[in-house]
Amino acid sequence: MATPVTKSNLTEEDQIFLLLRQLDTVPGASQRATAAAIGISLGRLNALLRDVADAGLITISERAGPDKRQRFAYTLTSRGGAEMRHLTDSFLARKLAEFEALHAELTGTTSGLVPFKNRNSIMENNLAPIPELYVSYESAQKLKVEAGDLTSHDLTPRQICDLELLMNGGFNPLKGFLSEEDYNGVVENMRLADGTLWPMPITLDVSEDFAASIEAGQDIALRDQEGVILATMTVTDKWEPNKAREAEKVFGADDDAHPAVNYLHNQAGKIYLGGPVVGIQQPVHYDFRGRRDTPNELRAYFRKLGWRKVVAFQTRNPLHRAHQELTFRAAREAQANLLIHPVVGMTKPGDVDHFTRVRCYEAVLDQYPSATTSMSLLNLAMRMAGPREAVWHGLIRKNHGCTHFIVGRDHAGPGKNSAGEDFYGAYDAQDLFRAHQEEMGIEMVDFKHMVYVQERAQYEPADEIKDADDVTILNISGTELRRRLAEGLEIPEWFSFPEVVTELRRTKPPRSQQGFTVFFTGFSGSGKSTIANALMVKLMEMGGRPVTLLDGDIVRKNLSSELGFSKEHRDLNIRRIGYVASEITKNGGIAICAPIAPYATTRRAVREDIESFGAFVEVHVATSIEECERRDRKGLYKLAREGKIKEFTGISDPYDVPVDPELAVETENVDVDNCAHQVLLKLESMGLI
Ligand code: PPS
Repeated sequence: MATPVTKSNLTEEDQIFLLLRQLDTVPGASQRATAAAIGISLGRLNALLRDVADAGLITISERAGPDKRQRFAYTLTSRGGAEMRHLTDSFLARKLAEFEALHAELTGTTSGLVPFKNRNSIMENNLAPIPELYVSYESAQKLKVEAGDLTSHDLTPRQICDLELLMNGGFNPLKGFLSEEDYNGVVENMRLADGTLWPMPITLDVSEDFAASIEAGQDIALRDQEGVILATMTVTDKWEPNKAREAEKVFGADDDAHPAVNYLHNQAGKIYLGGPVVGIQQPVHYDFRGRRDTPNELRAYFRKLGWRKVVAFQTRNPLHRAHQELTFRAAREAQANLLIHPVVGMTKPGDVDHFTRVRCYEAVLDQYPSATTSMSLLNLAMRMAGPREAVWHGLIRKNHGCTHFIVGRDHAGPGKNSAGEDFYGAYDAQDLFRAHQEEMGIEMVDFKHMVYVQERAQYEPADEIKDADDVTILNISGTELRRRLAEGLEIPEWFSFPEVVTELRRTKPPRSQQGFTVFFTGFSGSGKSTIANALMVKLMEMGGRPVTLLDGDIVRKNLSSELGFSKEHRDLNIRRIGYVASEITKNGGIAICAPIAPYATTRRAVREDIESFGAFVEVHVATSIEECERRDRKGLYKLAREGKIKEFTGISDPYDVPVDPELAVETENVDVDNCAHQVLLKLESMGLI
């Protein structure tokens, strides 16, 4: 006969787990009540309290007051919070094993005879709560005060997205940012060190300077961009990753044309920190609050509605008719309810902003049967990693209580590589998902490309059309849609819903009414400022949009007067110009920038900032260095040659010649008016004027 399950059988590990949990949730209880709640004697409790205090998991302080039984206050430390979260899994696993054994005994079967997944398990189905990394409200308040003394790391927007999903269980089973060992496993073979499938490195990248101020074993505070403490982290690992290797293995190529590879090399810090995280509070969102759900909130919602099967649809685009057809078919095929689960964290640079998209989703939601469809927003920072991303998305959806996941053509594809070819095969994502779906515990609903068959007035998967030669197949690609929107052209009813088109047109008026940036780059004395001035006057003559000139010299006087010409300072200067230009562009104005901007990566970063709001037109003023030196209008080249000005671009400092600018203008033998006119013609050909 099996041993009865009683509290006195608890292992020491279970006792520690229950103690930490008790101190977290009922911190003010007397020792007697705490011991009773755990099911141990007072003597044992005192021994345990001493042990966990020695291990740095709690702090003990004197408490004022007449009640001798409550002389001491016990507070969970950030390490104690992490340990409690860590022990949750093993505690649950042991309880599950006890449950299995008891079940086998009561039903007279051994657990092997009835596969666990076929039983109506309360503890391991998609609707049961999953572990989060938060401590209780009381512990969080105390930790927040303590964390005031810790070294702080200000999280980047992407890290905030990652942290939110770590803390709320969206990235379950991760307990924090990856350790070096886990990272190596994930990069090399999509597995954590313990063998668990996990395809995406979730890493805390920091600068070398910050890393130098941190030692392994130290606790740090993780703050949002306004300085609010969201979590603490015990740094267990600090290392310099091989980013080229990460790019090759995770994204398939070390090619900066891939947005995540570009991020890895040009935005992410050089050093990674790893370690368990203790959640203090969720990042605050002020937009669409009612539409955001944690994994446990969604699981509770599905429980409440009795939704046992749920198919999730991931998207970063507005929903058009093809998507609607695809989601209907998926729900039918899986005989499941539908969760429209769009990403609102970070998507591909240049995507339609999430505010517009959510308004579009809301506009088409009533096209769906409300009893079997729901929509929730996911604050994920996508990486556009195609196949690996599909597996990652599947695991995230499983954590959100879904049983099925739609993977279509080119799932999370990043577009073309620098050789103009697709990074991944159109159905690579489906193949990788299929290979792992059993282990993942979420089933794929795969779809081929959906196209519109005019004669039958309906969408059909391209590969299922038997009479393809006899019917008219219509399709509008994403690029074509963007072109039609940009030029104010018709978007047919068979393609999208009128409400969606109206919404898209409202945020993205035709290009001739949008803001844009003209970014001149070239050597000092190349003629940037002169052409920029001429262009400004011509645009003002045309009227319609406000024009702002951010000339190199003017910016240095007004915005960047404290900066010199080191790489770091030049980058800072250009990022400031980019920031101002992006604000102007966002608000419908024309920004003309004319700095030297010698570094290609910085120009690209500025391009990305601006392209989310409007066009970025890079104009290389391609005057040779010899000609600039011959003109030497400011006498600076002479001084640079004499060594009196250091780090002078083209003489003693580098200049990356633009590889693919929208326009390159020659200034030798061409007058300024003509150069400015060439720019105007370019703007016209781009539909901007
Ligand atoms: S950068 O690299 O883009 O930040 O440079 P920028 O702000 O455009 O430079 C503006 C002017 O500074 C003068 N100047 C120098 N240029 C290059 N290298 C060094 N070391 C330097 N020191 C001063 C130069 O006249 C730039 O003017 P123009 O002619 O407007 O490009």
